[in-house]
Amino acid sequence: QELALKSLGNEGLFLFSSLDTNKDLYLSPEEFKPIAEKLTGVAPVSESEEEETPDPDGETLSIVAKFQPLLMETMTKSKDGFLGISHVALSGLRNWTAPAAPMSVLLARQFKAFLPPKNKLDLGDPWWIIPSELNIFTGYLSNNRFYPPAPKGKEVIIHKLLSMFHPRPFVKTRFAPQGAVACIQASSSSYYSIAFRIHAEFQLNEPPNFPFWFSPGQFTGYIVLSKDSSHIRDFRLFVPNNRSLNVDMEWLYGASESSNMEVDIGYLPQMELESAGPSVPSVIHDENGNVIDSRDPSGEPIQFVFEEITWQQEMPWEEAARRLEVAMYPFKKISYLPFTEAFERAKAEKKLVHSILLWGALDDQVVMVTSGNTAKPPVPLPLPGSGRTLRETVLESSPILALLNESFISSWSLVKELEELQSNRENEFYSKLAELHLEKYNFPVEMIICLPNGTVIHHINANYFLDITSMKPEDVESSIFSFSTNFEDPSTATYLQFLKEGLQRAKPYLHS
Ligand SMILES: *[C@@H]1O[C@H](CO)[C@@H](O)[C@H](O)[C@H]1NC(C)=O
Ligand SMILES: *[C@@H]1O[C@H](CO)[C@@H](O)[C@H](O)[C@H]1NC(C)=O
Ligand SMILES: *[C@@H]1O[C@H](CO)[C@@H](O)[C@H](O)[C@H]1NC(C)=O
Ligand SMILES: *[C@@H]1O[C@H](CO)[C@@H](O)[C@H](O)[C@H]1NC(C)=O
Repeated sequence: QELALKSLGNEGLFLFSSLDTNKDLYLSPEEFKPIAEKLTGVAPVSESEEEETPDPDGETLSIVAKFQPLLMETMTKSKDGFLGISHVALSGLRNWTAPAAPMSVLLARQFKAFLPPKNKLDLGDPWWIIPSELNIFTGYLSNNRFYPPAPKGKEVIIHKLLSMFHPRPFVKTRFAPQGAVACIQASSSSYYSIAFRIHAEFQLNEPPNFPFWFSPGQFTGYIVLSKDSSHIRDFRLFVPNNRSLNVDMEWLYGASESSNMEVDIGYLPQMELESAGPSVPSVIHDENGNVIDSRDPSGEPIQFVFEEITWQQEMPWEEAARRLEVAMYPFKKISYLPFTEAFERAKAEKKLVHSILLWGALDDQVVMVTSGNTAKPPVPLPLPGSGRTLRETVLESSPILALLNESFISSWSLVKELEELQSNRENEFYSKLAELHLEKYNFPVEMIICLPNGTVIHHINANYFLDITSMKPEDVESSIFSFSTNFEDPSTATYLQFLKEGLQRAKPYLHS
C-alpha cells in the first residue's frame, strides 16, 4: 500500500483502487477492461452476456427508453447557485440529458430471469431475483468505484435494461437493501404477470473526476410473460415520480474513501422503459416450415394476432407492490399512513401518532446521509445515514413493531411536503398539523409523537438518538453476540423508552 502510494501518488492510487475490485493490489485483465475500452474505444462482446446458444426461432422484444433529466433547481444546493461545488463534480449529471439507448431489441428468453422459482408460485409471495448481500454487519460497499463489475446470471438482463439509461449502472447498490425482488401479481394457465422492485444506482462520473452516485428511490414495474418466457406480452419499468423528491445523489470531493462526501436529493420527472408491443418471432415460418418474409406481398408488415389473456388468479397491483416493499423493508410490516390520514385514524381510534419527519424518504433509497455520523472513523455498524440506520435497526425490531402496531398510528413525511401542506391554506387543520410538526424539526430526521390534534408531546432527533445509542468501536465485537442472541441492543431499548414515555405523557389526554 505504501509502495503503491509512493509510485502513484494519492490521486493515482485512488484511481488504481477504484479498478482493483478485489483489493489485491494487482489489476487482472477483467479489472483493467474499463480502461482498455475507454482508451481503445472497442468493447469486446462478453460471453457472460451471450450466455446461451441463440435460438433462431426465439422472439424479440423492442423496448423504448424515456428519460427526462433531473431538475437541477430541485436540488437543495441550487438555492445558493451551487456555490462552492466545483463545476466538474456535477459534469456527469449535467451531461446526462438523454437515454444512452433510446431503443433496444432483446431476446424474449433473456427475461426468464423474471420467472418465479418453483416454491414461489403463490400470488404475492416474494422472491429475490438478485439477493441482497448487505446487512447491518457487512456495512456498505465502497464509494470509490467508477465501473460496474461484470454482471452475472440474472443480473445480466437487469444490467442490460438499466444500461439503456446510462452506461454505468450498478445492479447492486452500495447501501442496503440492495438487489431485486419480485412476486406474482396475476396468473393464467399459460401466463404470469410479475411485479418487481429493483434497487440500483448509476455512476455518473469517470476519471479524472471523482465518483458521483445517482440513486433513484427505486425502479419498479411489471412484466407479463408466458410461463416458459418464450413470449413477452407487456413490460414496463419506471422510477416512481409521484413524490416531490425521488433521487439521492452522493459525490466525493477527494481522492480517498474517507474523503468528505457531498449529498443532495432532487426530482427526476421521468425514467422509464416500456415494450413497444408484444414480442414477435424474429423468423416466420409458413405452414410448410419454410421461412417467409415478415412483410406480406403488398409490402405491409405482417400483423400478429395475440390471444386474450384471462387471469385465473390476480391481486391488485398496489397489494403486490406492498408485498415487495415489506420484503425490502421489514419495518413496513406495520403501515405507515400518509400524514393527514394518520391523524384522522388516530382520532378515530384514540391512539397517538408516531411520526418520522425527514429530508429524504424512509421507504426508498432516497435517504439523507447525515452530516454528523459520516465523519466518524469507520465502525462495523452502518452509520452513513440516520434514516437508513433507523429503518434497519430499531424500526424493524420485533418489540418496536409490536408496540407501534398496538398503540400508535405511524406515518413518515418529507419536510418539503409538510412545508407545502403548511403554506397551502385550503384546510386550516391540516396546515396547523404541519406547522406543529415543522416547529419541532431538526435536520436531518426527527421522530415525533403527537396527540390526534397535532400537539407534540415528545420528540427526538435521529442524530442525537444515534449518538446516545451508538456503541464505541471497542464495544462492538462483544455486542455482536448480544445482538444476535437476544436483540437487547441499546438502540431498541432506547426507542422503546421513547415510545413509552410518549404514552405516559399522553395518558391524561387520551382518556379524557
Ligand atoms: C459530456 O458530453 C460530451 C458530449 O457527449 C462529451 O464529449 C464529454 O466528454 C462529456 N463530459 C463528461 C464529463 O462526461
Ligand atoms: C405513488 O404511486 C403509487 C403507485 O401508483 C401509490 O401506491 C402511492 O401511494 C403513490 N404515492 C403518493 C405519495 O402519492
Ligand atoms: C398488528 O396487530 C394486528 C391485530 O392485533 C395483528 O393481526 C397483526 O398481525 C399485527 N401486525 C404486526 C406486524 O405485528
Ligand atoms: C390538543 O388537545 C390537548 C388536550 O385536549 C390540548 O391541551 C391542546 O391544547 C390541543 N392542541 C391543539 C393544537 O388544539
